[in-house]
Amino acid sequence: MSKNKQGKKHIHILDGMSLYTRDKSPFYWGYLNIDGEIYKKSLKTTDKKEAERLLFLWKNELFTGEVAKDADALNKTDLIEANNHKVDNTRRKALMITSGLMGAVTVTGFAVPFLSAWNPSEKAKALGASVKFDLSKLDPGAMAVVEWRRTPIFVVHQTKKALENLPKLNDRVTDPALSEGVARSSNDKFTVLKGVCTHLSCAPKYHPEIEPKAWDEEWLGGFFCPCHGSKFDLAGRVYKGVPAPINLEVPPHSFDGDTLIIGEPA
Ligand code: FES
Repeated sequence: MSKNKQGKKHIHILDGMSLYTRDKSPFYWGYLNIDGEIYKKSLKTTDKKEAERLLFLWKNELFTGEVAKDADALNKTDLIEANNHKVDNTRRKALMITSGLMGAVTVTGFAVPFLSAWNPSEKAKALGASVKFDLSKLDPGAMAVVEWRRTPIFVVHQTKKALENLPKLNDRVTDPALSEGVARSSNDKFTVLKGVCTHLSCAPKYHPEIEPKAWDEEWLGGFFCPCHGSKFDLAGRVYKGVPAPINLEVPPHSFDGDTLIIGEPA
């Protein structure tokens, strides 16, 4: 078990299965990482053994679609084997909706102008094809979330002020990534990032405001991951001293005038 500065305790159960609790909140939370998609929910118990049992039951429910009436009928071996089976895409889609993790719940949480392009065609999703996004819809300072290969992609329209501020953070980030350009983009206005925290794959929140924040009194805008407090600047560069080890990833993408093409490298 590990415990961070905020008093959050992380208990690793198996690959992709964790429990969390905090000093202030007695309930255990269950986290599941299924093929890079994170599912979390409160297990509403303060008992670790019970939390572990509920975590396994929940995982089984996700894989089979059945709620086990008899908890003792399940054992770890069955569930670990279930983990090796591919989740059916239809079921996965349903889970995305019912678990409310990376979809609407996340995107409506942004406090800034926001555009969602979360609806590529089913065919495009199935093929993992490239996805196009019209950048002319995006005002300076706004961010859009575009789904590509079932991954949320953050598209940020950088403001002039943001571009001026990014070099000021070079000393505060782990990897300044100077070779990638000031906004880590070949375009001087738009930054394109995978919206997946590089710690345990939560969805970081977009906070472009330049103002003191609870997590940083000298905040110059960026992304904050509420799961364990990782901070990234507006170019997705991770701050020093947070749980996330590396910068937010930049997906392959290219620009064609006002069109962003995600999935096709320049
Ligand atoms: S998932 Fe842990 S800080 Fe983001």
